[in-house]
Amino acid sequence: MEKLLQELAHYRAEIQATQAPDAAALEAFRIRWLGTKGLVKAIMGEMKNVPAEERKAFGQTLNEFKQMAEQHFETLKTALGETAPPPAARSAKSATALDYTLPGDPLTVGSRHPLNLVRDQMISIFKRLGFVVAEGPEIEDDWHNFGAMNLPEDHPARDMQDTFYLRPTAAPTDAQQKWLLRTHTSSVQARVMENQKPPIRVICPGRVYRNETVSARAHCFFHQVEGLYIAENVSFADLKQTLYFFVQEMFGNDVKVRFRPSYFPFTEPSAEMDISCLICKGKGCNICKHSGWVEILGSGMVHPKVLENFGIDPERYTGFAFGMGVERITQLKYQVNDLRLYSQNDIRFLKQFTGVI
Ligand code: PHE
Repeated sequence: MEKLLQELAHYRAEIQATQAPDAAALEAFRIRWLGTKGLVKAIMGEMKNVPAEERKAFGQTLNEFKQMAEQHFETLKTALGETAPPPAARSAKSATALDYTLPGDPLTVGSRHPLNLVRDQMISIFKRLGFVVAEGPEIEDDWHNFGAMNLPEDHPARDMQDTFYLRPTAAPTDAQQKWLLRTHTSSVQARVMENQKPPIRVICPGRVYRNETVSARAHCFFHQVEGLYIAENVSFADLKQTLYFFVQEMFGNDVKVRFRPSYFPFTEPSAEMDISCLICKGKGCNICKHSGWVEILGSGMVHPKVLENFGIDPERYTGFAFGMGVERITQLKYQVNDLRLYSQNDIRFLKQFTGVI
């Protein structure tokens, strides 16, 4: 014990006399005194040889010694005007402060959102058929979202789409002044027909809103790609072939399609299109509710009244329109089973699409 104390005094003097003219000397000091094989650690190891009744006092002396050594190291470091590199970058072997052989920090690359990936793929397929992209506002007036699309104020089919209306700042004087969040991108088609003469061939991608309780199968907002083609002699056969082409490009040549008669106020006749279930190949599963078919879109021939609303002569021009949900197509492509995943921004979900172009 006496001997240890003497040694400590000796070391203390040595420490305090040490200067560090350069980084190498500073590093040497650190290794000799404070390193994992340094003297401070070694003296700490002597504790076990100290008689139990003296251990407490000796422990204190040792601690002070350690703090003194650390303090001196800090003083030397500051004097050198150098910030020591983080411990991982130190090399015990070389006098250089940085070890350039250590692996670098990885650069993490973000990924594209699956809905954007699929939307862009949908757009590029229709572009090859001559469609161009049209966009419009998400806050719409009643006319462009409903009225012009053959859905007057009292039309029962308005209930098909539960609407978020915006609180008016003044009492609306007529239907056109009612503001809402668009329930479909057909409102963009209305704006295109308002501003362009046929031939018209547009697709309208965008976010739409409906007042629905959020669950795995429904959401208060989702995304659509709707299309509109108006020219002379456009027929239902053109509609079918266009959509069939889309499905084959999107899902491959094996997929089958079927059309079912349906009703939309803005098209007549109207049809919904199903594709054979990609998950179970038609055998029956949860996604297709054991029918072998999944519905992917609504479509039809543009109603003459809609054309008239925009001064397009229905005797001369005909057209078809269709609308589909990007979420649904993405669900089938990537087997996403909960709609909420798309908007939760959970990195574990999103990073699965890294590298998907
Ligand atoms: N606008 C319809 C909807 O959102 C889809 C649709 C578009 C149907 C065009 C027919 C024609 O549900």
